[in-house]
Amino acid sequence: MKMQLITRAIGAPLGRLDGAQKVTGAAKYAYEYPVDNVTYVFPVQSTIARGRVTSIDASTAQALPGVITVLSHENAPRLAPLDNALPFGLPSISQYLGVLQSDAVSYRGQVVAAVVAETLEMARQAANLVAVHYEEQPHDVELHADRRDLYTPEKINGGYETDTAQGDVEAALASASISLDHTYTTPAEHNNPLEPHATLAVWSDDGESVTLYDANQGADWVQDVVAKAFGLPLERVRVIAPYVGGGFGSKAFAHPHIIVAVMAAQVAQRPAKLALTRQQMFALAGYRTPTIQRLRLGAVGDGRLTAIAHDVVEQTAAVYEMAEQTAVPTRIMYAAPNRRTTHRLARLDLSANWWMRAPGECPGMFALESAMDELAIACGLDPIELRIRNEPGVDPESGRPFSSRGLVVCLREGAQRFGWTQRDLQPRTRRDGPWLIGTGVAASTYPSVQFPAAALVQVDRAGHYLVRIDASDIGNGAWTVLTQIAADALEVPPERVHLEIGDSALPKAVGAGGSSGTASWGWAIFNAASALRARLHEEYSGIVPAEGLEATGAFVTNPEAQQYAMHAFGAQFAEVRVNVDTGEVRVPRLLGVFAAGRIINPKTARSQLLGGMTMGLSMALHEESVLDARFGDYVNHDFAEYHIATNADAGTIDVTWIDEEDPHVNPMGVKGIGEIGIVGTAAAIANAVYHATGIRVRDLPITLDKLLP
Ligand code: MOS
Repeated sequence: MKMQLITRAIGAPLGRLDGAQKVTGAAKYAYEYPVDNVTYVFPVQSTIARGRVTSIDASTAQALPGVITVLSHENAPRLAPLDNALPFGLPSISQYLGVLQSDAVSYRGQVVAAVVAETLEMARQAANLVAVHYEEQPHDVELHADRRDLYTPEKINGGYETDTAQGDVEAALASASISLDHTYTTPAEHNNPLEPHATLAVWSDDGESVTLYDANQGADWVQDVVAKAFGLPLERVRVIAPYVGGGFGSKAFAHPHIIVAVMAAQVAQRPAKLALTRQQMFALAGYRTPTIQRLRLGAVGDGRLTAIAHDVVEQTAAVYEMAEQTAVPTRIMYAAPNRRTTHRLARLDLSANWWMRAPGECPGMFALESAMDELAIACGLDPIELRIRNEPGVDPESGRPFSSRGLVVCLREGAQRFGWTQRDLQPRTRRDGPWLIGTGVAASTYPSVQFPAAALVQVDRAGHYLVRIDASDIGNGAWTVLTQIAADALEVPPERVHLEIGDSALPKAVGAGGSSGTASWGWAIFNAASALRARLHEEYSGIVPAEGLEATGAFVTNPEAQQYAMHAFGAQFAEVRVNVDTGEVRVPRLLGVFAAGRIINPKTARSQLLGGMTMGLSMALHEESVLDARFGDYVNHDFAEYHIATNADAGTIDVTWIDEEDPHVNPMGVKGIGEIGIVGTAAAIANAVYHATGIRVRDLPITLDKLLP
């Protein structure tokens, strides 16, 4: 790859360019756009998990002052099917987003009606008065590894093969001098970004086009879905989302409330606002599937692996199939001649499971990295040494070389920084009063991918540059890092660069997902900037003409992605204190060392990785959506009962990275850091808990009861 990027702004710890606007309230979020004559929408959710609506009596609700209309399947506008509305070959989302199209109820909390009213309070009160009658059918919501109806999905998320196999795993396990066979489970988890999912739909007076101010991870995705559902050409739908308060995957693509808001505005012939309440988000914004993962490892005496088998059972919804790619990281982590990964799914009467920070890698690496710790103990080896002995020279399954692979460097660097060398091999050897103290390590990984994006760069006579691209800043720092990339690509200081992002009217680009943003958007910007500089110098001798100048650039595909395996790596270290009397786990220290290509901005990067690790801590100790099978749903629908790590849970979190130059991934050399921070944290903590207590917890979260006799 031709490296032409001279880095000046890149690498500088620039503060968030949108920071001041956000903390002063000047940055407008979707729900805050002032529009005249606005109405408010409040959904009515099903109180059964499966069946059908037999009747809806909205007369009492409708009679309340201020109520404009009550939508239900009996009167709602008809939608067009949503086949092929999602990118990446994802399955049809017609059923999940086909809101109010039939009397069928497919999960508890499904939108079965919606009140449109003059105020939010009126809408909410009226929603409580809509009488919905059901014919209830038995629901099926429980995941078990021995379900007879588990099926093999055609592909898994990310477009990966569902299963892979090499060599003879069973024979290798049978003849291995050391082997283990354990099942690890992770619970369902619900995404809880600070800003709830919200949308404001405004139809044009002629009813021919619609504008949405919407909290999402990709305006183009929402534009596409709404255009298809309402039978509009793309250019008649505009989606605006310059500031978004977190998403973590839950704001990828679209959820039913978006459709409901657009319908409401269409029927009321007035703008309509809909923000999900925190409780509603637990049914209408996706969740991470629980997983049941059987991990079998076989090794020779010195710890070298001869076999790895990772068999995953997880769930998806009757209304939408999202097959989480849980065993995928196992395909690239360690060398072993005999290997297998499989994914089996149960289709349940629950809401749609969805993307949640590092889908696949996050739960999958909890199992693999816990198992590696168990193997190290079985071999009497230091867990870092075990990983180094199993470091593959090339991608073990595809045989392709890695574009760069920094796992061992991260482990060694981390060991030094963390003070790993003084660690006792024996568990339960350190104690401070009632506190048992232990340390643990786990590896981290996330693929480096890029998706198509286009950008337009303009310059005026005064030398001010405008960069236009439908990139998404959901808190990831895109406003800042894309400005830095543009500045270097244009060879001007960042102060001369102005960005426009988060608007479907801008040049098309992939949304924020798969940690692909900086690489994909940055590459398009790099190409547009290079084209502009070439024009300026070749056609105008470096002098901007009076009318200004512009150029477009696009990134389509990275040809080297076929030649190389491209992944970021990391090493996570944890110190825990476990109270012998109460089982309470504290995590005074976490360290993450990452090898993720070039870091564009050390300040925003640290924030991303720190956030990921904190979410990993949350996963390790707290997060768990609790299913009540009789009720047919997860029941802990708020922050009182769905626990998330707070400041009081976080001790010292040390985040660092190694200098990694990767000339293959993209001209900037970035690999993406949005998700890798969460990968491996929970395993490092579970491994530390074992080291402290001698108790192996294979079922997340690590709650007190699991550590008491
Ligand atoms: Mo991420 S879960 O790909 O938004």
